[in-house]
Formats: sequence, structure tokens, C-alpha cells
Amino acid sequence: MALDKEHVLVVGGSSGIGLGVAQALLEQGANVTLVGRTEQKLRAAKERLEAGDRVSTIAADVTDENQVRAVFERCGAIDHLVITRGAVPLNAPIAALDLDAARSFIDLMVVSALALAKHAVPRLRRGGSITFTSGISKDKVGPGGSVVAAVAGAMGFVARALAVELAPTRVNVVSPGWVETPMWDEIAGAAKQQMWSDMGTRLPAGRVAKPADIAKAYTFLLGSELTTGIVLDIDGGHRLI
Ligand SMILES: NC(=O)c1ccc[n+]([C@@H]2O[C@H](COP(=O)([O-])OP(=O)(O)OC[C@H]3O[C@@H](n4cnc5c(N)ncnc54)[C@H](OP(=O)(O)O)[C@@H]3O)[C@@H](O)[C@H]2O)c1
Repeated sequence: MALDKEHVLVVGGSSGIGLGVAQALLEQGANVTLVGRTEQKLRAAKERLEAGDRVSTIAADVTDENQVRAVFERCGAIDHLVITRGAVPLNAPIAALDLDAARSFIDLMVVSALALAKHAVPRLRRGGSITFTSGISKDKVGPGGSVVAAVAGAMGFVARALAVELAPTRVNVVSPGWVETPMWDEIAGAAKQQMWSDMGTRLPAGRVAKPADIAKAYTFLLGSELTTGIVLDIDGGHRLI
């Protein structure tokens, strides 16, 4: 199997895209360690993955550098780092933007990615990989979207710089369009199914993604030894409409 016995740390692996990535990695023979803040969500994810001791969990808030350091002390050597943690996008017109909320969102989405890369380096196999997550907000901009565009856009440039700095370790980004994940309960509540269905009819691909669709992009990047410094858009053509 492509990733036989490789150890992958999935930050955000207890839900949504990260959980889909963990499932796909297990199917390719990898062992995974899931990181999230909530013990109960981590326990539920481990049960759902049904892979016994091939799945470990560590509870940590990755906006706190001490907790990031502790994650890498606990997890030991890794072959790959995947980062899918995230929160509901911050949308606000610039005239009404709460700068403390903007700082917190940038801290979660950009600074924590830097902290994870920083503390991963001593534990990460040379020639392994780091994969960040961006999103369609870098491409489909609109009123209220300045902060999400900033964080989603930033990750491609972070990856390009680190791909050179950390070579031969590879550093890439996956950029999904809309994905059917629990985050949408907060974004749209009961309207989510209708929104996914309406978007599906507009998308060239004909439907909104499920986590398993997006997971294929991460497993490709982990295994592709000549791919580094790229942003892989997997959005059903959302950028084009
Ligand atoms: N879903 C979409 O349509 C979509 C589209 C484009 C891009 N994305 C991006 O994809 C990423 C994943 O989204 P998703 O939909 O899979 O979200 P999700 O289902 O809500 O999962 C988010 C994960 O991040 C963890 N997390 C959140 N804050 C954390 C923190 N401070 N420290 C450690 N872990 C933390 C959560 O666990 P805890 O809550 O227990 O911490 C959970 O495991 C996000 O960056 C999002 O912006 C999503």
C-alpha cells in the first residue's frame, strides 16, 4: 500500500475533511494521530475509523504554542503533517470589521499553521511532507470576505516559501470548494442541504464534495514525490462559475 506504516499527524482530524483524510490514509496503510481540542470528538472519530491502535489521538488547542510543542513531544516521529483545523469563516464588511475577531481568525488559520510547521520540523522525516488547507474564498471574493480571502490566499505563499526552506521535505496546499462537513451546521443550519443542492446544480462537477472526495487530493500530495510548493484546487469547478 502506498503509505504502508507511515505515520501521519492530522490536525483537525476529528471532524469533516480531516476525518475523511484520516480514513483515506488508513486505507492506504498509514497510521494516524488525530489532533483537535475536544476529547469527546476525538474519541468518536477514533471509534468511527474502526482501526484500533493504528489511530492515536491528542487533545490540543493549536493556537497555543506550548500545546503545539506538547503535541510533537507526544506523537514522536512522523512522516507527514496534514493541517485541516479550522472554524466557521469570518465574514464582515470592512467598515464593521472587529479587529480582535480578525486577529483571532488569522491566529487560528495562519499563525497556528506556522507554529505547527515550526515544531514539526525536528520530528518530520526529511523527504516527508506538510500539507496545509486553503479554500475557495481565495478565488470567489465578495463583500465581507477580506479576512477569509487573506487567510486562504496566504497559505499558497507560505507553502512556496517553506517548500524551498525545508527541501527535500515537500510542502503543499489543498484548496477545497464547498464540502459537506459539520462546519455547515454553524454556517447554514437547516438550510445547508438546500444550499448544497443549489450549488451542485451550478457546479461543472454537478455536486458539492464529500470529505472522501477531498481526501484524494491529500493522499495524492503525500505520495507524489515530485510535487512541492503547489496549491491543488479541488472544487468541482467552483472557481470557474
Ligand atoms: N467545509 C467546507 O465547505 C470547506 C471549504 C473550503 C475550505 N474549508 C477549510 O477546510 C478546513 C476544515 O474544514 P471542515 O469543514 O472539515 O471543518 P470541521 O468539520 O469543523 O472540522 C474542524 C476541525 O478542526 C478542529 N479544530 C478547530 N479549532 C482547533 C484548534 N484551535 N486547535 C485544534 N483543533 C482545532 C476541530 O476539532 P475541535 O473543535 O474539537 O477543536 C475539528 O477537528 C478549514 O480550514 C476550512 O476553512 C472547508
